[in-house]
Amino acid sequence: MGVFASTDDPVSTGHEQVVFCQDKQSGLKAIIGIYSTALGPALGGTRFYPYASEDDALADVLDLSRGMAYKNALAGLDLGGGKAVIWGDPEQIKSEALLRAYGRFVESLGGRYYTACDVGTYVADMDVVARETRYVTGRSVEHGGAGDSSILTAWGVFQGMRAAAEHVWGNPSLQGRRVGVAGLGKVGKYLTGHLLDDGAEVVATDVNPKALAWVRANHPQVTLVDDASALVAADIDVYAPCALGGALNDDTVPALRAKVVAGAANNQLAHPGIEKLLADRGILYAPDYVVNAGGVIQVADEIEGFNFDRAKLRATRIYDTTREILRLADAEGVPPAVAADRLAERRMADVGRLRAIHLR
Ligand SMILES: NC(=O)c1ccc[n+]([C@@H]2O[C@H](COP(=O)([O-])OP(=O)(O)OC[C@H]3O[C@@H](n4cnc5c(N)ncnc54)[C@H](O)[C@@H]3O)[C@@H](O)[C@H]2O)c1
Repeated sequence: MGVFASTDDPVSTGHEQVVFCQDKQSGLKAIIGIYSTALGPALGGTRFYPYASEDDALADVLDLSRGMAYKNALAGLDLGGGKAVIWGDPEQIKSEALLRAYGRFVESLGGRYYTACDVGTYVADMDVVARETRYVTGRSVEHGGAGDSSILTAWGVFQGMRAAAEHVWGNPSLQGRRVGVAGLGKVGKYLTGHLLDDGAEVVATDVNPKALAWVRANHPQVTLVDDASALVAADIDVYAPCALGGALNDDTVPALRAKVVAGAANNQLAHPGIEKLLADRGILYAPDYVVNAGGVIQVADEIEGFNFDRAKLRATRIYDTTREILRLADAEGVPPAVAADRLAERRMADVGRLRAIHLR
């Protein structure tokens, strides 16, 4: 979802269930947040992070699990929204015992929550968690998993960007458009490939010299600029934040020359009100959680038994969803981020309600 200023109180945030888990011996301290199971079991990754306090960990899991409910609803998945955080430094405390203890807590929820990777957890960790629970996705290919989720994340971002381009310029093709990619990591690299294939001109930046070297070697036609500020101020048509959150803030939005923003980074809007600032400047923002849903579509597909073609087809539909959100935003006179939230809430209510029809 767009921006959610969390309180630390699950009752006021409307979460269904928040579970605190502890295994003293292995050092596991985890919180699993289930925002909604209206559309199905809650799906969302496990963030392993050294939060400054338990309150910070709780605030994060409440925000993230709510965001997943909106993302999964708009991705057309029969899945609700959840997320988990493990509180601690993964470099210091991650161990087989800790991950397996965590897996047992996930299992204890009986399938109300499916976990996956997030910041600080990797495919190999999910394979360990899976030794204790059936309710885990994002596993390695050799264990029937989908592998690297950035492939379909980038594909979905590209589809969302095409819908935004069509809305603004009447044509979904990016041919001849100058697209600024901030962050040439896993997603940014694949996205750059799709853009070049479509005939776009790519201007890019990254703080990591290795990422820059990769682009120089593989896509020498890409123009590299010094940093994200230079990219924002550059003569670009589309801005694609693919690094960290908060890319759209009080400094960047007034300087931005692009007419469209569509990128992979989570939580691009630095605070509530930025979506209005973008709209006032005539910049079309394709909501991050709509266009970056390809990754969750990919891992969700594992629950059925992973099929790449089926997952790619689903990620391609991000084009249609983005179009619908932009149409709704115009019709209702609201920024796209607000229209997206409304559409997600409508699906959770309309489809979620059907469970009231009793079966056997
Ligand atoms: N990988 C996925 O499937 C997926 C799914 C949904 C959302 N996302 C989000 O998309 C973003 C990118 O994900 P990723 O998997 O490519 O991560 P990544 O860590 O592989 O890549 C991020 C890149 O951004 C660069 N970077 C960091 N700070 C920067 C800055 N200030 N300016 C320019 N570059 C900077 C890093 O050096 C790195 O190369 C993240 O915000 C992530 O949360 C990823």
